[in-house]
Amino acid sequence: MAGYKMTYQFEEYPTRAALVEKLSQALIADLRKALSRQSTISFAVPGGTTPGPIFDQLCQSDLDWARVNILLSDERWVPSDSPRSNTALLRNRLLVGPVEAASYVPLYADYATPEDAMEPLSHQLKACLPLSVLLLGMGADMHTASLFPGGDQLSFALGDSAPPLVAMRAPDAPEPRVTLSAAVLNAAQYKHLVIFGAEKRQALEQAQSLPAQEAPIMAVLAGTTVHWAD
Ligand code: 6PG
Repeated sequence: MAGYKMTYQFEEYPTRAALVEKLSQALIADLRKALSRQSTISFAVPGGTTPGPIFDQLCQSDLDWARVNILLSDERWVPSDSPRSNTALLRNRLLVGPVEAASYVPLYADYATPEDAMEPLSHQLKACLPLSVLLLGMGADMHTASLFPGGDQLSFALGDSAPPLVAMRAPDAPEPRVTLSAAVLNAAQYKHLVIFGAEKRQALEQAQSLPAQEAPIMAVLAGTTVHWAD
């Protein structure tokens, strides 16, 4: 079933496997379109538990990966060999096979706090903006990237004057985070959101009546294709 809700498109799939296959194809199609127009493009992806199988598909796909910058939508401030590191997830599941030819743009560096690393990380990040293709995840608390309800820098990260990269601490995040700002996420040419399960679908419904301050997913939903399977 496909349909338009508010300003986003909602795609429902019979199984998670079907979603993974179709969404991977859609992402590759978007990346190809972007590559046909620009010599170098940028592709941002989420961490967390949902995207692994999508990465497994993407890393088998034939594309001119050498012209693609790959980055995370957000990162947890943990060493890159931590099981909580989104960078580790990418290194293990996405930046392999043909995708090793892509340029990885890190959102983590080995400094004690995100603030210490903001300048070098932002410098490299700015050089690869705007994003061409964006895949986001969402938590049942309606956060996306590391735009968390109750985040100490949420208002700043949602605002027009935010820099591309913002450090974030939140009650529901076990470690400090860094996140792309809402403006950077919204500037992407092609935007996709992947969610699994009834709880997240319900959360997305509930978000419709809430301000972005309480439901940060609302800050980036316009023009996004949401992909859902139970
Ligand atoms: C992270 C993410 C985050 C994620 C959601 C959903 O580092 O946690 O980038 O925004 O997409 O928390 O996480 P799950 O896929 O694990 O449910």
